[in-house]
Amino acid sequence: MKILETNYMGLRLKNPIVAGSCGLTSTVEGIKRLAESGVAAVVLKSVFEEEVIKEHEETLKNNLGAFENNMEFLDYYDYQIKDDVLKKMAGIIEEAKNQVDIPIIGSLNCATSGEWFSYAKQLEKAGVDALELNVFKLPFDINQKADEQEKLYLSIIEKVKQHVQIPVAIKIAPYSSNLAAMVKKLDDAGADGITLFNRFYNVDFDIMTDEVKAGNPYSSEHDYFNTLRWISILSGKVNADLAASTGIHSAETAIKMIMAGASVVQLVSKLYKDGAGSVAGILKNITHWMDKRNYVSIDEFRGSVHHEPKENAERFERVQFMKYFSSHNAE
Ligand SMILES: Cc1cc2nc3c(=O)[nH]c(=O)nc-3n(C[C@H](O)[C@H](O)[C@H](O)COP(=O)(O)O)c2cc1C
Repeated sequence: MKILETNYMGLRLKNPIVAGSCGLTSTVEGIKRLAESGVAAVVLKSVFEEEVIKEHEETLKNNLGAFENNMEFLDYYDYQIKDDVLKKMAGIIEEAKNQVDIPIIGSLNCATSGEWFSYAKQLEKAGVDALELNVFKLPFDINQKADEQEKLYLSIIEKVKQHVQIPVAIKIAPYSSNLAAMVKKLDDAGADGITLFNRFYNVDFDIMTDEVKAGNPYSSEHDYFNTLRWISILSGKVNADLAASTGIHSAETAIKMIMAGASVVQLVSKLYKDGAGSVAGILKNITHWMDKRNYVSIDEFRGSVHHEPKENAERFERVQFMKYFSSHNAE
């Protein structure tokens, strides 16, 4: 018998496959479908403070009239609407907790730093088993100093950790002026898990109409290399558990991430492309591979291909094609 069980931020999971945060995890039916497919945990669709505010502005526009300049009323309205959005999410969490027996991880994206811990507390109260903070803000301001962004992320994790008891992961972007040091700081600030990496909404151009349009939202099976590199470099160097995200479309890639040191792998694009049913095949193929390699448990091969020894370090740290390292013969 193969032991696929794995530990992630203190949660005992039946296997290392987690459904990542996306639209598929935004309803009780979606969560149930994923749980039935065999995933060991789900990360809920993020609650976006920005969306709450937008909804709030719409409602205000439609209902305000005579109250337009009444700040006290506006304040009340603000809290009322935020409350409604969080209540709806709490309802989903409570019902999902009744219907599935896998851990449910709440996800948050707040625009203002003050709201992070308040939303986090409410999700905790609703019953999530852990939280994942989705914190990236595009550093497009040419006047912003590098450490302003860093400080913001650190203060968010510190504040949330002060206010909730459940484990807290932070999901980060691959773009940072000093990624390894930043991850260490997040670890020191108390993150129980670090999800590497988020993949974002992309923009594209239509060259016939000059329009800016949405780029393909889904990753391909070749998009995993950067995640693999960083999981390998960081595993064993931080206390936080590492969750691999981006480009995981097969058992083979999932195995590589675990070999690099990931506690869990998160799937999103694969679930959109091939449905929740594809999880069973991935789990089966992981088990087959474990048979072939005589592994009994996931823990036996976690971190088996590491940044160190020296010859691996050279490969992980090299980014220029000075000499092609692959077994292929590239001229
Ligand atoms: C349609 C869609 C919606 C997503 N929504 C969220 C979200 O609400 N919160 C979040 O943290 N990540 C969100 N993501 C990012 C995914 O969780 C994941 O990190 C990313 O897609 C990379 O994984 P993949 O290669 O398996 O797709 C979304 C991705 C997609 C494709």
